[in-house]
Amino acid sequence: MNMSKEFNNNTIRGPINAFIFKILSGYLDRLFGSAKRVLFKGHPETIVEIGPGTGANMRYLKKGTRLIAIEPNIYMHNNLKKSADRYGIDLEIKSLMGEAIDLPDASYDFVVSTLVLCSVHDPLQCLQQIKRILKPSGVFVFIEHVRARENSVLAFIQNLIHKPWHWFFEGCHTNRDTKQLLESIGFTKLELESYNLYSPFIPIIPQVRGRAIK
Ligand SMILES: C[S@@+](CC[C@H](N)C(=O)[O-])C[C@H]1O[C@@H](n2cnc3c(N)ncnc32)[C@H](O)[C@@H]1O
Repeated sequence: MNMSKEFNNNTIRGPINAFIFKILSGYLDRLFGSAKRVLFKGHPETIVEIGPGTGANMRYLKKGTRLIAIEPNIYMHNNLKKSADRYGIDLEIKSLMGEAIDLPDASYDFVVSTLVLCSVHDPLQCLQQIKRILKPSGVFVFIEHVRARENSVLAFIQNLIHKPWHWFFEGCHTNRDTKQLLESIGFTKLELESYNLYSPFIPIIPQVRGRAIK
């Protein structure tokens, strides 16, 4: 396991990003809400979420849900706790990276990540960890922005803006081929939809969403 990289809790960009994700939560609901309601429908009592940020997904969870939050960015934790209080979620935060989850093998029915695989240092390792902790037939639900079609205008914009975006949004890759990674991991079944979600955040227009079953 590659443990050489640790999460860099940046004292300036960390709080700024926590603030941005908090104030964007209503807008993110407008962008993603209908898809999330479908993907989270019928979720079990206990969920593991990788990179929950300030808790954007809690509004779609049933009251009383036990949420194990794998969130290495300590600057997200305060708002994460506030969201849990607001939505009646039983929250356990683990300041761990998705590449090094300390949960037991084959123990959970439902794992979530939204807009996270773009940011983790090693997405393949993170996906392997997700698969490892899922029970057989357990479900991984995802919404992720992905690399645009080769030679498209969107690909040009993603490559152009990648460096400053990656710096400001603490490691987010505009042009990561997360679709290919999801396909390579060997889930028993992958229900994946590719689509464009138009918003002012042009680099993250190309996206995938769906469910992977172990
Ligand atoms: C763009 S935010 C998305 C937050 C939230 N999931 C949402 O949909 O609004 C990316 C999140 O991934 C977290 N993150 C970054 N690297 C991570 C890693 N290696 N493991 C787990 N989470 C990570 C960040 O701290 C941040 O909370």
